[in-house]
Amino acid sequence: MNSKIKIELSKELEIIFQMDLLKSVSQTEYQIFNLLEKPKDTSFGQMALPVFGLSKALKLSPNEIAKQVMSYLVFKKNEGMFSYIEEIIAISGFINFKYKSKYLTDELMTFISHEPIGFKPEKKNKKLVIDYSSPNVAKPMSVGHLRATVIGQALRNLAEAQGFEVIGLNHLGDWGVQFGKLAWAFQEWQTEYDFKKEPFKALFDMYVRFHDEAEKDPVLNEKGAETFIKLEKGDPEITKLWKMFVEISMKEYQRLWDRLGVKHDLVRGESFYSDKLEDAIQRVEDKGILELSEGAYVVNVGEDMPPCLIKKSDGASLYATRDIASAIYRKEVLGSDLNLYVVGVDQTLHFKQVFKTLELMDLDWAKDCHHISFGMYRFKDLGKMSTRKGRAIFLEDVLNKSVELVKEIIAVKNPSLANKDLVAEQVGIGAVIFNDLVNDRVRDVDFDWNKILDFEGDSGPYIQYTSVRCLSVIEKFDGQKVSNYSAQNLQSISFEKEELDLICMLLGYENTLSLAFEKFKPSIVANFLLDLAKSYNSFYNKHRILGIDDENLSARRVLLTEHTQKILSAGLGVLNIQVPIKM
Ligand code: ARG
Repeated sequence: MNSKIKIELSKELEIIFQMDLLKSVSQTEYQIFNLLEKPKDTSFGQMALPVFGLSKALKLSPNEIAKQVMSYLVFKKNEGMFSYIEEIIAISGFINFKYKSKYLTDELMTFISHEPIGFKPEKKNKKLVIDYSSPNVAKPMSVGHLRATVIGQALRNLAEAQGFEVIGLNHLGDWGVQFGKLAWAFQEWQTEYDFKKEPFKALFDMYVRFHDEAEKDPVLNEKGAETFIKLEKGDPEITKLWKMFVEISMKEYQRLWDRLGVKHDLVRGESFYSDKLEDAIQRVEDKGILELSEGAYVVNVGEDMPPCLIKKSDGASLYATRDIASAIYRKEVLGSDLNLYVVGVDQTLHFKQVFKTLELMDLDWAKDCHHISFGMYRFKDLGKMSTRKGRAIFLEDVLNKSVELVKEIIAVKNPSLANKDLVAEQVGIGAVIFNDLVNDRVRDVDFDWNKILDFEGDSGPYIQYTSVRCLSVIEKFDGQKVSNYSAQNLQSISFEKEELDLICMLLGYENTLSLAFEKFKPSIVANFLLDLAKSYNSFYNKHRILGIDDENLSARRVLLTEHTQKILSAGLGVLNIQVPIKM
């Protein structure tokens, strides 16, 4: 657990230790905060300080240290944080701190009453520009783009929770020689395709065909390159075609973004920078770092990587050039304080080259540009996915498959469920998103349907199901009634261990969001939600909530249920996962 109660306690303990016990020991070696942990057995308390390590440094036995710390705490009993501590128990090398439940519940009530829950109330006055999803025109989004999309949107939500002003950018891949190729292909072959019925499919098929044919006949590539130069020069006919390609593609992506709940603030595709490239290149040149190499212009970005290609010998601009212009735009026009690129690990070199070029241009904000890289998908059971002609796996096929599989599960488990299609969509898509986000983004992700849709495993549906369970408890108790029981219900002294465990889990939410943003890792939120759901379920399985004689006790447990549901739902919201009411 990483919450306010831990931070406060560690601060006070550090003072005590620094004053006396640790005087002779290097402070940095013993950061109480990093040592404090959740006790293995929470019946001893909510926080434990292991003293084994200190024992060596202080040349005292763990029990001796515990005794000494305790003797200090006796004096501090009613001061600061310690006034909230009911009992301190030293046991087998650990000092356990048992908090007063009133303190814990007060903390919970305060933080849960601020909406949106876990969001910092104060604004940061800092602008964060984040580039995510950014697919390539005429190409279907692949599962690789799923990562760029859902990690990006989650980070965007987390940044908002931290009080940043966020500008979400779609750096649409809408420029480059491939559009010369596509325009040429369109002019040659358009009559052979049905653009009325399935325009996007027709575009993609044409794209694939061009590449197949160009392999046999390289002249096609020359045609494509010539046509792109025309496009760069603003040829009206080619420009009209290009616009149509972009429109058709955006319509297609929009459908997917809608299903995933993804929103951008601005579309600033690569083409947006075409009239800003000259200036960018000029600025590189003015710095004296533009070099001619085999007819092309490059920037030497150091021994450890190949030069960054700025301008090809035929004058065409490049992906990197557009990224340089775009970084300048994000800083100088949009006013970004932090500039994030959510893009796969395969583009690491590209971003290193671009950022290094910015640095060599003496742009001190180059350090505020970060490539938020992520690993690839590894498919376990490709058998269940039809890969169109063995090419990339399309995101839409994955989403559809997931929804279809959830429909099958519902048909078996809960055939009388209302709004089956809606629930299947929420659960199916949520499952795919969760499976992506629960993994530390830098690692590769296993794609295994059995795991993704395991309602009892570490999955999205498990969390959604726990939330549904909470809602049904609240409904059965009669939601109206809970509000009649005020916060007083939470102030009983006789809490069960599972209740206190749950309260402590809930208290960790706020810091989970901060930490997840700090590390740019939505997986921290996803794993927190799993732990929270598990904590609620062990409370639920062990204690009766409804149908007990003591209505006060019942109301208190329903209130805890309500708080759990609120935080599960808030956390799923941060991850862009829908929360079904029934499933
Ligand atoms: N369109 C690129 C791709 O699909 C991603 C663009 C990432 N953003 C950027 N500024 N380069 O691979």
